[in-house]
Amino acid sequence: MHAWYLDDPSHPVPPERLAAEGILHWALPTTEAEWAAPLQAIRDARGYVQMDQVHLGPTTPNLDGLCQKFWEEHLHTDEEIRFVVAGAGVFDLRDTADRWMRVHVAAGDLIVVPKDKYHRFALDDAGTITCKRLFKDMGGWTPVPRATQTAA
Ligand SMILES: [Fe+2]
Repeated sequence: MHAWYLDDPSHPVPPERLAAEGILHWALPTTEAEWAAPLQAIRDARGYVQMDQVHLGPTTPNLDGLCQKFWEEHLHTDEEIRFVVAGAGVFDLRDTADRWMRVHVAAGDLIVVPKDKYHRFALDDAGTITCKRLFKDMGGWTPVPRATQTAA
């Protein structure tokens, strides 16, 4: 995981700064034999009872349309939890001063976007990602678009 402000890419954003914004991160191993147990421990501790897997890549139907949707700034009324199994991507997240923080995630990264935090997602240049999506329940999963988009 690497994080930086979009308007100041030369200065990394440390994990403590992300944590102060409610953004949680774990660096887990990259093989299932190694990440299965620690992932389950996190699920048990945080009540992530549901999990599925999603994939985005060149063969995904309507990839451009999906990516366009994920790039629209939005929030959720519950946490958005992603564990990257393979590939990579970027989450842009608004800090409390409305600045964009960019978090690049790759295999082994588990990120929690807190509820009510404006964000957007994109693939990186590799163009593919496979993620586990974790949920406390299915109730929080309507994206709420930002009414007034702010220039990046
Ligand atoms: Fe989202």
